[in-house]
Amino acid sequence: MRFSLARSFAQLAKKAEKGSSSIAVTKEPTKKPLLEIHQLGNAELRESAKRISKVDDSVRTLIKNMLHSMYSAKGIGLAAPQVGIHKQLLVIDLDIENAATPPIVLINPEITEFGASLETYEEGCLSIPGVYLNVIRPSIIKLNYRDEMGRPKKMNADGLLSRCIQHEMDHLNGVLFVDRVMNEDDLNKELTEHGFNKKDVIALT
Ligand code: NI
Repeated sequence: MRFSLARSFAQLAKKAEKGSSSIAVTKEPTKKPLLEIHQLGNAELRESAKRISKVDDSVRTLIKNMLHSMYSAKGIGLAAPQVGIHKQLLVIDLDIENAATPPIVLINPEITEFGASLETYEEGCLSIPGVYLNVIRPSIIKLNYRDEMGRPKKMNADGLLSRCIQHEMDHLNGVLFVDRVMNEDDLNKELTEHGFNKKDVIALT
């Protein structure tokens, strides 16, 4: 009786584990991440990403490799086009110092609703290291996406998470946060200071 009870608990636990299916990777920096992050000026960043039709092990391997690159670069978000892969996939972790918090994986994300209020917040990007500039975006979003097991999900996001999702989703359309910066003087100054070229910005504003 005790044995079988223990076994059924173990089976339940296993089932629950399969259900939650978080992608487990170390948050420690990897010496040589497999995937190199492209920088502003690289044409790969301007290509649109395609929907992922099947979420299989090759996608999950890509997710792990992207997470290693993101954690090694001390970033909180990374989109597949930043590593030259034009698929609608992004990874986010707003708690990179805490090993117990699982990362967020968004596949084929679609924003279904933007809140009416706008917010100004300073953004940075692993593809434009050192550059931090204010960007105005809607503060609240609702979205649909698939998780790393291919299951359809819905999410409401605000604050930093909403900001990060919108920034990463821009990458899927070949848009970079510097394209959205309104203050021309700040933009020129920051880019020049960090060795980037203004001609690589495609102004949206
Ligand atoms: Ni970025």
